[in-house]
Amino acid sequence: MTELQALVAEITQCTRCLLHRGRTKAVPGEGPESASIMFIGEAPGFHEDQQGRPFVGAAGKFLDELLENIGLTRKDVYIANVIKCRPPGNRDPLPEEIDACKPFLDRQVELVQPKLVVTLGRFSMARAFPKARISHIHGQPRKIGGIVYYPMYHPAAALHQPSLRRTVEEDMQRIPELLKQAEQMTETELPAQAEQLTLF
Ligand code: URA
Repeated sequence: MTELQALVAEITQCTRCLLHRGRTKAVPGEGPESASIMFIGEAPGFHEDQQGRPFVGAAGKFLDELLENIGLTRKDVYIANVIKCRPPGNRDPLPEEIDACKPFLDRQVELVQPKLVVTLGRFSMARAFPKARISHIHGQPRKIGGIVYYPMYHPAAALHQPSLRRTVEEDMQRIPELLKQAEQMTETELPAQAEQLTLF
């Protein structure tokens, strides 16, 4: 068993926060251990909780389409979430739930070592840029600690707000080029307080 497989097994048994009581299945994340791109969503919804797999509902269908538009399938990428168990009624994750799950996500990033981490939605973005607004920084890559972070709106946001669909599609279109440039890209110098980096 690889370390990543052991981690996935550990997540399925996790009882670190109260969400484990209401779950059908935990949703650890999935994809190749050597994926160059990692997508990080927010939290499992109804279908993900039923199946134990990330992005298998309506937002997942849209994510599949977006991937297809850039010549990828979900087999090419690693897909994880900020929290691994479904919050009741799909409410926003609580700070303590995010904290309880953080070591799992940190470890996933360490083990997969993606070149590019695409954050989907504000909870995932906040991991790297807690003070930022998604409307300001979506589509702007920044390299931090050797990894390029690329914030995007959550695909579900585009399903609820059709005006965002084009933005999400356009941001996605830049991914192949970003991946090519990731290694040469220079580390981003962040303004001292503007976006306070709490990552790792
Ligand atoms: N939305 C997410 O953020 N994650 C999923 O796994 C499914 C929907």
